[in-house]
Amino acid sequence: MHKIIIAIDGHSACGKSSTAKVVAKKLGYMYIDSGAMYRATTYYFLQNDIALSNHDQVGEALESIDIQFKIDASGNSQVLLNGTFAEEFIRTMEVNQHVSEVSAVSSVRRAMVSQQRQIGAEKGVVMDGRDIGTVVFPDAELKVFMTASLKVRAERRQKELMEKGIAEELSVISFNLMSRDKADSSRADSPLVQADDAIVVDTTHLTFNDQVDKIVKLAEQIIYDR
Ligand code: DC
Repeated sequence: MHKIIIAIDGHSACGKSSTAKVVAKKLGYMYIDSGAMYRATTYYFLQNDIALSNHDQVGEALESIDIQFKIDASGNSQVLLNGTFAEEFIRTMEVNQHVSEVSAVSSVRRAMVSQQRQIGAEKGVVMDGRDIGTVVFPDAELKVFMTASLKVRAERRQKELMEKGIAEELSVISFNLMSRDKADSSRADSPLVQADDAIVVDTTHLTFNDQVDKIVKLAEQIIYDR
């Protein structure tokens, strides 16, 4: 049975990460959340007052950032920033508000993409993000472009934050998602665009299980050459 790379790109908060995570589990693949890498970098830049306009400072900061993925006790892939589990620090509104700006910096993207390619070298990987099917793995065997209406995405993100004990107005979340979509789609370096050979999965009216099943079926067709 040959291993493949599954690239899942799409808009913010349309369920890419949660879907990709379960797809990877069902296939016995490794899940890599590329957004978590940009978020961890953003968190580090905020903590250390890195000025994005200062190329030397950005370069030095990138040298001192080590991002790894480890499987935690529940079998989930978690991001580590310089050896520390970083999940709880990288999903805050502060990081949400700065991550598009940081991820538009070309040297940041070069560092992340190079690491993402190393991780995917052995295949058997599900990676989600914005440029996975277009830039990181243009030869990925399966490319999915996920989307959903802004309203549904904002409601899902609000619920997610609520579960973490963070109360946030729907309008604030919608505005953040809209701004991030715009910034991610219009940046000069590796903008969010649908790859020509990507399969679109609109999750507005799909249940979580339906969207997982849909992608697993697509993957199995390729893996087993059906
Ligand atoms: O998937 P996410 O919302 O956690 O990603 C956070 C931000 O990181 C997103 O607004 C854009 C950026 N990102 C990117 O530029 N390229 C990727 N491959 C993944 C994320």
